[in-house]
Amino acid sequence: MVRIVPSILSADFARLGEQAREAEAAGVEAIQIDVMDGQFVPNITFGPGVVAAIRPLVSLTLEVHLMIIEPDRFLAVFAEAGADRLIVHQEACDDLRGTLESIRSLGVRAGVTLSPETPAAVIREAFDLVDLIQVMTVHPGFGGQDFLFDQLTKIREIREMLAADGLEIPIGVDGGVDTTTAPQIVAAGARALVSGSSVYNQRATVAENIAALLASVEGAEAD
Ligand code: DX5
Repeated sequence: MVRIVPSILSADFARLGEQAREAEAAGVEAIQIDVMDGQFVPNITFGPGVVAAIRPLVSLTLEVHLMIIEPDRFLAVFAEAGADRLIVHQEACDDLRGTLESIRSLGVRAGVTLSPETPAAVIREAFDLVDLIQVMTVHPGFGGQDFLFDQLTKIREIREMLAADGLEIPIGVDGGVDTTTAPQIVAAGARALVSGSSVYNQRATVAENIAALLASVEGAEAD
């Protein structure tokens, strides 16, 4: 089952609560909140206050994508704000297992994400601690970028690593997801498609855009 996970990075920042509700009304299970600190990535976005503000408005799973250095400093405050899943960058963690264990100790689900330049092999150590492996298919920091097609190979590599270990951890993709790239992403083995600018834009409503993305992967299977 393919899931569209809207990223509010491309939403109207003056109406984040409404835009989260629009995503929920469109039938998605989760949204992703892209937290950026201006150091791990050259952009600054949201803090725990935005998570806390959105939390009471929706029943969605709130995934917080931490594009920050030293994420351990902020795990508890985002958990307290209402995050259901904290997704950390392998590149930002001195002790990835320790960080993931800290997330789980807070009663929050843990995900790991890899920037495009990071090889798939580095996350084998985390398999027993995560319920989501997210492949960045753009360089983290901004929405609306072009999809990096070379990352399709990484998705397949991770799929094969999981199969070899007899594991079925969902693979997510974040960046450049649209109706053209989505079928190729699913064919490679991903199931959770994070999308910002293909969901939140002036071309169509949130519901229409989500429906279009789902239609583009109708019947698509991992090859
Ligand atoms: C990059 C962000 C984006 C965002 C999705 O740091 O993580 O990937 O979620 O942006 P689009 O769908 O516009 O590429």
